[in-house]
Amino acid sequence: MQNISKIQKDKKNLIVQWSDGEESLFNYFWLRDNCPTAHDKDSNHRMFNILEVSENLEAEDFKLTEDGKLEVKWSEGNHISYYDPKWLRENCYTLKNKQKYNSPYQLWDSSLEQNLESVFIEYDKILNSDEGLIEWLELLHHKGIAIVKNAPIEKNSGFNVLNRISHTRETFFKTPFEVISIPKPNNSAYTSHALRNHMDLPWFETPPGFQFLHCLINSADGGDSSAVDGFAVADYLKNNEKEIFDILVNVPLKFRDKDYTQQSIRGFHAPAISLTKDGDFNDIRFSVATMDALDCHPDIMDKVYRAHHRFGNLLHDKKFQIDFRMQPGDIFSFNNRRLLHGRTAFNPNSGHRHLQGYYIDRDEVLGRLNYLKQ
Ligand code: OGA
Ligand code: ZN
Repeated sequence: MQNISKIQKDKKNLIVQWSDGEESLFNYFWLRDNCPTAHDKDSNHRMFNILEVSENLEAEDFKLTEDGKLEVKWSEGNHISYYDPKWLRENCYTLKNKQKYNSPYQLWDSSLEQNLESVFIEYDKILNSDEGLIEWLELLHHKGIAIVKNAPIEKNSGFNVLNRISHTRETFFKTPFEVISIPKPNNSAYTSHALRNHMDLPWFETPPGFQFLHCLINSADGGDSSAVDGFAVADYLKNNEKEIFDILVNVPLKFRDKDYTQQSIRGFHAPAISLTKDGDFNDIRFSVATMDALDCHPDIMDKVYRAHHRFGNLLHDKKFQIDFRMQPGDIFSFNNRRLLHGRTAFNPNSGHRHLQGYYIDRDEVLGRLNYLKQ
């Protein structure tokens, strides 16, 4: 643990020197707002209201206490704050902003197909151990893909492992949704047609973060699965075709739910690729089936279509796509806002095919992983 070796002040900050030679700025508003007494001890919510201090707030006096804490007497409010140096160091935004960003994402291409066991995880292991659950969550977070093996093939049994993560995300397709071929289908997944690589529900403001396709029966001819890492394709474009990448990041596309059973009109504008605050990939929106009639400006429509065309072709390119066949008892689990998934057509007269699908929000997967790793 680092100790504070020296403290100075300027107009807006306390300047802390650490025993390892690092230096941190701590802004007065930031310090006052993060006084340890600011929070309710039960709810952990901040009870102190920074809006009540004036713009002239400053540290009138400051020193190190005998037990090494930073003591600050404020210029107003008749208040003294005591800060634990360990907390200050861990939350120091000066040092955080100096650190190089490390992406949690391990991008992959078609070579994963030869090594698909690397994303397998046994159903029993998830059910019976936190290590198993962590392994699954880490695959989902870092690679965006995992295949749970040897799950039961009873209907709705997917809940057993999914509830190890959290509650599911409900949609009008119900949970689980039944992926079978039906008459008068309201969704192309409920046919025996091939599905091009797509994400589910891109027309939501927040499409489901993760999807789980639990294979109960897969004995018909055809119906093989495909998947592609949309982040890997985006990364390729970023490095090799920057103009196309920039259009995909900057121009909102339009998506619309086309389900005839709905008494609701749902749609959303969002770019094909969105980025995080660190410039990393946040999500991909791509679905040939549910992209609406675009409404971008006439001056850019042609280049938007060319970018979409290029992106879509790479999202089906043999260099990036993996092909595999789901076995009964597999749960194909993936980041629905990173991977695109598809299937080949199947012949419904040659056998049966039945998948049950579930969604879980990204917050639940990440939140649970953070908690288990803490
Ligand atoms: C879906 C889907 C794939 C399959 O239901 O969203 O993409 O293999 N299904 O049937
Ligand atoms: Zn789908």
